Amino acid sequence: MMGPGDGKWALCGNDEVTVMTEVVSALVPVTLDGNVLTVRMQRPEKRNALNVEMYAALATALRRANSDPAVRVVVITGGPDCFTAGNDILDFVGNPPADDTHPVMQFLFALTDFEKPLIAAVNGAAVGIGTTLLLHCDLAYAAEDARFHLPFVNLGLCPEAGSSLLLPMRAGSHRAAEAILLGQPFDAATALSWGLVNRLTAPGQADAAALEAAQRVAKQPPAAIRAARQLLREPLRLPLHDALRREAEAFVARLSSPEAAESFQAFMERRPPDFSPFS
Ligand code: COA
Repeated sequence: MMGPGDGKWALCGNDEVTVMTEVVSALVPVTLDGNVLTVRMQRPEKRNALNVEMYAALATALRRANSDPAVRVVVITGGPDCFTAGNDILDFVGNPPADDTHPVMQFLFALTDFEKPLIAAVNGAAVGIGTTLLLHCDLAYAAEDARFHLPFVNLGLCPEAGSSLLLPMRAGSHRAAEAILLGQPFDAATALSWGLVNRLTAPGQADAAALEAAQRVAKQPPAAIRAARQLLREPLRLPLHDALRREAEAFVARLSSPEAAESFQAFMERRPPDFSPFS
């Protein structure tokens, strides 16, 4: 038996809810429960670090969810101990996001153009894109022991995913500069006070909070939800596209810089990077 729409989601089993599995990548399984699609980043041995395969699968999942009337809300989550460690560092070196066709860019455009409510559930570490994608979510719930980190500059890189536009708007320019320039991790209470998440939950309960909110949104009139969401987001859609392209250009240039080479080498050797030789 196939799923809703044109058989895009393949039914693989059932419990009390209908359980469906994404056909694109085992690293990004999806389940449909009523009208709520849960998209999971699942590569626990690498702390759900996003490689090119996962970005492509996430982009596909969002595009399919957009056009499938059975999906009214999407929840994005990771594992019980880690949301995501961000971009797979080694993957990026070998396969930089050189143009709009790259899976990273496909995912970012799918995110900015997504037309239905998107809700994040953060348990554990949310690093890099793990934090910046929250800026694109309508609602976000985090466990009180979740940790957030934007280590782009620490890695010789620069902000991505529209965060150079959205983070100062959301958190204020001083806080954005603190998070980006100092590149220090921050806790869930700070993320809450900066407006990155709606509410904190007990440890391990972020998924439950996100799913509960998602089921409530899914019961609202869908056309009214879409109209409201479009009104809320349309003013920033084109500025975001512009920011994504400017960031990507700078990011790709940074990826081939000596500073980034030193940080990646240090990551592989599990030592602190030494930026003292650079001017
Ligand atoms: N890219 C590639 N591999 C990564 C990764 C990343 N972003 N983050 C973690 N991994 C890998 C580690 O190399 C390690 O692999 P190994 O077991 O083959 O050596 C494995 O995942 C576990 O990582 P570890 O650091 O031991 O896990 P932890 O639970 O102690 O810490 C994090 C989890 C997320 C705090 C930590 O892994 C981290 O800070 N990762 C780097 C995040 C980062 O800089 N992301 C880039 C954003 S642009």
